[in-house]
Amino acid sequence: MIETISGLKRTKYCGEFRESDIGTAATVFGWVQKVRNLGGLIFIDLRDRTGLVQVVFDESVDKALADKAFAVRGEYVLAVVGTVRKREMVNDKMPTGQIEILASELRILSAAKTPPFEIVENSNVNDELRLKYRYLDLRRPDVAKNLLLRSRVYTAVRDYYAENGFVEVETPLLMKSTPEGARDYLVPSRVHPGKFYALPQSPQQYKQILMLAGFDRYIQIAKCLRDEDLRADRQPEFTQIDLEMSFVDREDVMAVNEGLLKRLWKDFLDVEVPTPFRRMTYAEAMLRFGSDKPDLRFELEIVDVTETVRGCGFGVFTSAIEAGGAVRGIRVPGGFDKMSRKEIDSLGEYVKTYRAKGLAWARLGADSTTSSFAKFMAPEEMEALLSALGAEKGDVVLLVADAKLGVVEASLGALRCEVARRLGLIDKSRWEFLWVTDFPLLEFDEEENRYVAVHHPFTAPMDEDLPLLDTDPGKARAKAYDCVLNGYELGGGSIRIYNTDLQARMFELLGFTKEEAEKRFGFLLEAFSYGAPPHGGLAFGFDRLLMLMAGEEDIRTVIAFPKVQNASELMSGAPDEVSPKQLEELGICIAEAEDDDEDDEEDDD
Ligand code: AMO
Ligand code: AMP
Repeated sequence: MIETISGLKRTKYCGEFRESDIGTAATVFGWVQKVRNLGGLIFIDLRDRTGLVQVVFDESVDKALADKAFAVRGEYVLAVVGTVRKREMVNDKMPTGQIEILASELRILSAAKTPPFEIVENSNVNDELRLKYRYLDLRRPDVAKNLLLRSRVYTAVRDYYAENGFVEVETPLLMKSTPEGARDYLVPSRVHPGKFYALPQSPQQYKQILMLAGFDRYIQIAKCLRDEDLRADRQPEFTQIDLEMSFVDREDVMAVNEGLLKRLWKDFLDVEVPTPFRRMTYAEAMLRFGSDKPDLRFELEIVDVTETVRGCGFGVFTSAIEAGGAVRGIRVPGGFDKMSRKEIDSLGEYVKTYRAKGLAWARLGADSTTSSFAKFMAPEEMEALLSALGAEKGDVVLLVADAKLGVVEASLGALRCEVARRLGLIDKSRWEFLWVTDFPLLEFDEEENRYVAVHHPFTAPMDEDLPLLDTDPGKARAKAYDCVLNGYELGGGSIRIYNTDLQARMFELLGFTKEEAEKRFGFLLEAFSYGAPPHGGLAFGFDRLLMLMAGEEDIRTVIAFPKVQNASELMSGAPDEVSPKQLEELGICIAEAEDDDEDDEEDDD
């Protein structure tokens, strides 16, 4: 017989019962965590998203009811009516551990198959299985808690921007492509055969248009889609807190957004974040930390020793310098006792993944120094180098030389983080917020043999660098800024170009012909000609923000139905083939059916 909830109303969620409820009537709904029979007493732990409550059935009171209870299995869905009473065996580890519900009625609302994994906190199940049965995974309170946090943060974000005069506007999902540097997801049009919508990589152009329309302050919690390789902090489909403001400069944008983060950290983590945040130019970040998103929770600063070792006896250093490169290094204080030769050798392998050709090192013992390169240098050259690095007895120094500055920066930037991880130098309780400013406007793409925008083509150059657009565009800096937290890029934005001629010039620098620019961005250029206010904005990666707030290291833990490495969603099986009829309606024919493996390889390129 099918039992229903007819006539029943929940009095409280399972996890909400406390000692003060003793003696009251209770109606609860939930899933069966566990059933135990202890000599005439049947105990059922009942679970919902708030936690567990113990329900007890007493054979001596109602034998038939107790028998019915003993027949239920894990994950059955029950309705229980009863009375709250004090527990005999108090469990201090559970919030509801003082009480239990003595049942007088039991309805079995749904039976359940044995789940493919046990639904308990912190269980060690492989990711694929968890994602295939995401609904079971989400029944685990420790997994669900991130989504519950996410829900509360949505509200806090909306409230904050509303209080600050922002207007929430939804921008289209079916649109013309916005170039943010990734590949577009395309949607074929049935009505216009051969034409495609692009799904938004961000609402960038629409939000700028909204400024032209006079909305002045715009906010949207927006879905963005980018067909790019996945990483632990990157999903093809993700969410931004996207905003734009008129009549502002960089400081205005930064200030209002610092306010949001300050509020979130206070309200949700009880952490007082000092504002304004630290500022650092891109050039300084690259020089001192080898990264445009430096983790400032630990030191291990990079030191440039190019001038110190210029002309020294070590060919690796001098040849890198002669080729126009650099020599830089880090000092690991007290590293002598913490880092063996073997450890250093493995770091040498580590930097090779960042295209460094090797890692030069010195270990400064109390009595003598051992080093991979001292034999190539005069003692005074070595001394000058160690002193430039600020090295003292007991330290280890690690150096990279390369003809390409980018290789030196990237390998040492990664190395300082790896050393910090291995030596346990990262204080997880610290929150190091930072604005990185003055990014380069353009970077030269060797493959495409043209400049590409570092942020996006709508970002304004720094006023004083405008002349460089004609003489040395690669040197021009942008009015762009990234919000960085503990080594993650939390958000990025810029002050925009609002002048038609400058925007057209920018497209030209990016290698668009006049016709191409007109075809792709004509509507924007035209809009600028009808009175454009100065404007700028920013977008936070909402998932990344939550990942950091939740203390997680994988973005998938804060997304309800995330995608895996090859961009598929394991529960529903998307993407999937569609019917020939659907394809026909769209005027699409599939050139050649490739099997999945080949697909994967292509994606990895
Ligand atoms: P940007 O491309 O820097 O800027 O994106 C803003 C922020 O979005 C997050 N993010 C991602 N999060 C998860 N998965 C991804 N694949 C992913 N890609 C980006 C990052 C990033 O800092 N329109 C501009 C913003 C602006 O100029 O106002 C933009 O989209 O945290
Ligand atoms: P070799 O003479 O090749 O044995 O190199 C001596 C030391 O220099 C070894 O520790 C190498 O790892 C290191 N080395 C080689 N190439 C580089 C480089 N590009 N930067 C820093 N150290 C390097």
